[in-house]
Amino acid sequence: MAIESFVAELEAFREAASESLGRVADGAGLEQARIEFLGARSGRLKAIQKLLSGLVATDRPAGGRHFNEAKAAVTALLADVQERLVGGGAARPTADAIDVTLPGDPVRLGHVHPITQTIRRVQEIMARLGFESVDGPEVEDQWHNFEALAIPAEHPARDPLDNFYLAVARGADPLLLRSQTSTVQIRVMENRRPPLRIVSLGRVYRPDTADATHYPMFHQVEGLLIEPGTTMAHLKSVLRQLASSFLGGDVHVRYRPSFFPFTEPSVEFDMQWGGRWIEMGGAGMVDPAVLAAVGYDPDEVSGFAFGLGVERIAARRYGVADIRDFYRNDVRFLRQF
Ligand code: DAH
Repeated sequence: MAIESFVAELEAFREAASESLGRVADGAGLEQARIEFLGARSGRLKAIQKLLSGLVATDRPAGGRHFNEAKAAVTALLADVQERLVGGGAARPTADAIDVTLPGDPVRLGHVHPITQTIRRVQEIMARLGFESVDGPEVEDQWHNFEALAIPAEHPARDPLDNFYLAVARGADPLLLRSQTSTVQIRVMENRRPPLRIVSLGRVYRPDTADATHYPMFHQVEGLLIEPGTTMAHLKSVLRQLASSFLGGDVHVRYRPSFFPFTEPSVEFDMQWGGRWIEMGGAGMVDPAVLAAVGYDPDEVSGFAFGLGVERIAARRYGVADIRDFYRNDVRFLRQF
């Protein structure tokens, strides 16, 4: 077949389709015309498509182009007619049908996670007491997580069962996910001279089985104050201030003698909440060995440090019984705070 005759066939197809569609008056007529011209099995375009293979090979690309054009044109025509039919019908809603005075669907706003809210609140309270907020790395070395904090190699706290050691090491020194934020005390003291008042809030990691009060990742607040003439009395008033600002009202704080390698003397402190004493964390006067490890003169400077769990105080404040709820990412739970 010659290309001219093929193109003529397409022309005739377009004209017939245009004429026929011009006469369509309703949906049924439109469907009939669609089947006649574009029907996939026995439509007229289908018949023309079969002629394509009768063209000589060199004419086939041009033939294909003409074919596609004709198909697109008739398809567009069909859409126009459909639009005309529907557009004139009564079913189509008019602009007046939309009541713009009706209230819209409210957009639900998200908010900061309760743990982050707690962190920011503690930072704010501590800032008012002059404590600057600082960060430290979550991947730590033995020096900052243990040695400088007077936790020697044979100390049980360094047991691989109690720490997330990494498969990578720095030289012979295995790295780990920090198990406490006390690391930040060392990092800050190594780089600055007293007086110092810092607070550091961040994630720590321990291979604990998750239950209502444990999670392998949790957050700690670390506080450090190094100033001449610091005593346990200063520690007590800072912790009491923090507790009553955070929980509201006159919170009582109680101290029990304890032991931490990096403080001497060491205490654990509880806060009274709802008539009960709740364990909050550890604290004490910074051990002279720690001061010496960072190059301070223990005869000249002294200070206190404390550490407490963010999840624990958040759970207290918000009345959450199971800390795992903080991490389930269930919006129905999180939305309450
Ligand atoms: N690092 C301790 C822990 O994870 C908590 C702690 C106790 C921090 C006493 C301190 C401190 O700064 O003085 O259990």
